[in-house]
Amino acid sequence: MDRKEALERVKPHLTEHRYVHTLGVRDTALKLAEKEDVEKDKVETAAIFHDYAKFRSKEEMRRIIEAENWNEQFITYGDELLHAPAGAYLVEKEVGIKDEEILSAIFWHTTGKVDMSPMEKIIFLADYIEPNRKFPGVEETREEAEKDMDCAIKMALRNTITFLLKKNQPVFPETLFAYNHLTLNTNG
Ligand SMILES: [Fe+2]
Ligand SMILES: [Fe+2]
Repeated sequence: MDRKEALERVKPHLTEHRYVHTLGVRDTALKLAEKEDVEKDKVETAAIFHDYAKFRSKEEMRRIIEAENWNEQFITYGDELLHAPAGAYLVEKEVGIKDEEILSAIFWHTTGKVDMSPMEKIIFLADYIEPNRKFPGVEETREEAEKDMDCAIKMALRNTITFLLKKNQPVFPETLFAYNHLTLNTNG
């Protein structure tokens, strides 16, 4: 599938705001990919489809996660998490993308996980720092992303965890594990 077709396939599933975000993630992901050993066209496809399921009903997304026997914490730790695993499923079933690297990057783009692949890291970080994102800490994370992707991901995870704690919300365990792992294994 070429870029034009991919964008045409995703557009009806997104709001205008989310489509602009998707284009930002695509551009940022391609920039991050320059320094990594990854296939650029796969990075672009993963970025374009990463939020494919964002506007599906919560019931549909919960049903998919249950039927696939995926970690039920995707359901119990907050509705924001549903669209990532559900998106990986729907992109495979409805769009016909079977590539495991792409599907896994979509699956983990919201929570992150321990030992992410280069493709997973790129999509996770691009989703966090793309130019339309505006929240405290994003500029520092953008600057770090130009120097060290792992340190930038650690900053993004720390910001997310801090945000959740301040709002008295639970932290998805894999997010915490990813933060711990990077804190123990990166400098800066
Ligand atoms: Fe997302
Ligand atoms: Fe996104």
